[in-house]
Amino acid sequence: MEVPAGGSVLVVDFGGQYAHLITRALRSLGVFALLVSASQGASGLLREASQRGARGVVLSGGPSSVWEAGHDGVAEAALSLGVPVLGICYGHQLLAKVLGGRVGRAPRGEFGPTIVEVLEEDTILRGLPGRLRVWMSHNDAVLEPPPGARVLARSPGSPVAAFELQRPGGPRVYGVQWHPEVAHSQGGLELLGNWASLTGLLGTWRPGDIVGELVEQVRRAAPAGVAVAAVSGGVDSTVAAVIAQMALRERLVPVFIDHGLHPEGEVERALGILRGSGLDPVVVDAQEEFLSALRGVVDPEEKRRVVGRVYGEVLLREARRLGAEYLVQGTIYPDVIESGARPGADVIKTHHNVGGLPKGLGLKLIEPLRWLYKDEVREIARALRLPRELLEKQPVPGPGLAVRVEGEVTPEKLAIAKRADAIVREVVERRGLHRGLWQYFAVLTASRATGVKGDRRSYGYVVAVRVVESREAMTAAPARLPWEALEEMAARITGEIPGVTRVVYDVTPKPPATIEWE
Ligand code: XMP
Repeated sequence: MEVPAGGSVLVVDFGGQYAHLITRALRSLGVFALLVSASQGASGLLREASQRGARGVVLSGGPSSVWEAGHDGVAEAALSLGVPVLGICYGHQLLAKVLGGRVGRAPRGEFGPTIVEVLEEDTILRGLPGRLRVWMSHNDAVLEPPPGARVLARSPGSPVAAFELQRPGGPRVYGVQWHPEVAHSQGGLELLGNWASLTGLLGTWRPGDIVGELVEQVRRAAPAGVAVAAVSGGVDSTVAAVIAQMALRERLVPVFIDHGLHPEGEVERALGILRGSGLDPVVVDAQEEFLSALRGVVDPEEKRRVVGRVYGEVLLREARRLGAEYLVQGTIYPDVIESGARPGADVIKTHHNVGGLPKGLGLKLIEPLRWLYKDEVREIARALRLPRELLEKQPVPGPGLAVRVEGEVTPEKLAIAKRADAIVREVVERRGLHRGLWQYFAVLTASRATGVKGDRRSYGYVVAVRVVESREAMTAAPARLPWEALEEMAARITGEIPGVTRVVYDVTPKPPATIEWE
């Protein structure tokens, strides 16, 4: 799949933590931005720049020192393109170095919130307060600006916290020591917007506008023959399948695999959403196959691999039966980047949503959403007027309740987990508590506890209730549910499920815990 037409800003990733944040911030400003790994070197950057129509380059942060890493060539390549260039943190120091400034040990390291004094309210600092509270993380600093450059800001540890250099006949080059892409940096988005306006791309990227282009790309990728789309009822796979169906019409066959590990009612919910989206999936009942493959499997990661492997086998069998040559997958940009595949290199990723599809399914992959972030996929779903429920549904992990039953998944434990989970869902939704929650579910723990039911001692399972607030699942906080709701869950779960003697509420945030128990 190619990138959408129109220009782009390339964000060179030097291995820092925040490169994705820069890309996302630019996209939120309507600028189509892409990550390029610095490990591709100067020639890689020049190639990407010509393929992707680069109209600006950001050199991002990174863990190394400009004296060690050997990235000068990458910075020089960026400067040779004749487009606006912005250096951030490590990128700022690298630009200063190759342009003849002095970089060395900072008068003092700055980590976390730092006050920056704005000296020149110039193009990229326009509209920002004179004293900025920003996020820094550095030991080295630009001590003297490149010849001819103006110092725009300073801080106690950064004599040149920002600079501007007007190069003869070229656009201005900017560097900032702090991280404008981090939410804690005051005026960060404004700064990026000021810079992005120099590229001429500000406000030109709207995900909803590229549906036609994505459809066209799918059509070109599969000019003839049948494609299957693996659909789960989640937003990524649904949007990918809808786009593929717009392109291929009856040559697209959506396939929904019922692995028997779904929460209660989830299959009906998913099928309702898919049908409401205009898809009519083939439903494959493979419950027995998954359960028998999971027999004796205790390790959580092994469970994910087993579910992924069986999913791949079932899908391939179905594809063969349908005579399909292509597989449409809802892979999105973070999956592509995190699985180490470089844009353009069509490596089959370990697909999170299906718990890891095995490589080499032998089908040609079509991934219409591989350049998009989740919020952009949601925006496309809205533009396509897909059912609202699709956007409101809580995420269900690809391996389903296999990772919510601790230890071996047996039919008995699975049935208990499903019932407990359904009770948690009912109580939360009936009380109208689900708005604002990221996920709410039950876990069947591996613990047993003594109870007394009907004057008899009983020794049964412990169910943990997990309810979290989160924005992106990277971090999460336990929800402060009303006590009455928790009491109702405990009473119903122990009352309605004979094997359960105890219910506990998980009050651990992420980090240090994860959202799922396994
Ligand atoms: P954790 O447990 O890592 O979960 O905090 C973060 C988010 O990812 C979901 N999750 C998964 N989704 N396959 C998936 O498709 C998986 O194997 C998987 N494990 C966790 C989890 O539900 C949460 O939203």
